[in-house]
Amino acid sequence: MSGHETTSGDAGGPTRRDFLYLTTGMAGAVGAVAVAWPFIDQMRPDASTLALASIEVDVGALEPGMSLTAKWRGKPIFIRNRTPEEVEAANKVALTELKDPVARNGNLPPDAQATDLDRSAGKGKENWIVMIGSCTHLGCVPLGQAGDFGGWFCPCHGSHYDTAGRIRKGPAPQNLAIPTFSFASDTVIKIG
Ligand code: FES
Repeated sequence: MSGHETTSGDAGGPTRRDFLYLTTGMAGAVGAVAVAWPFIDQMRPDASTLALASIEVDVGALEPGMSLTAKWRGKPIFIRNRTPEEVEAANKVALTELKDPVARNGNLPPDAQATDLDRSAGKGKENWIVMIGSCTHLGCVPLGQAGDFGGWFCPCHGSHYDTAGRIRKGPAPQNLAIPTFSFASDTVIKIG
């Protein structure tokens, strides 16, 4: 034995270890580029991200009997400061009279009942109602303070909603949906 065994690398060419090192380095570089793109993309909110954002609506100017329509996630949002008479009219209705006895209130459990309180903004704010202004039949925008029940009326196929936005007559199957919302202050409602 010479005691002087050599590999080809010792002779000046790239060793197997050098080769592995080079290829690993290249894979690393490719990986970094692949990761960088989605990361940069995330920093530029696209339309769908913006559409998910919540909005704040100042309702300080709404006296009882006044409404406004805001826009959130591409949909109209009806906000109404109901009169005591409107609240009372809705309160008088027995749940058994309702076509849809479910609250459809995004702030409550899915099985909450469609009492006037659970359709409203809750205890102490029963006068406020916040709903997605999209008819549950085929999505037309109902008209406010119209129809047989003095609430909302969808002229597309004749759906009548009461002063709590509950479907009472016509082809619509469900009460107007209530989005998740909260009062950010006494006069500002945060939707979403
Ligand atoms: Fe409203 Fe048909 S879309 S009644």
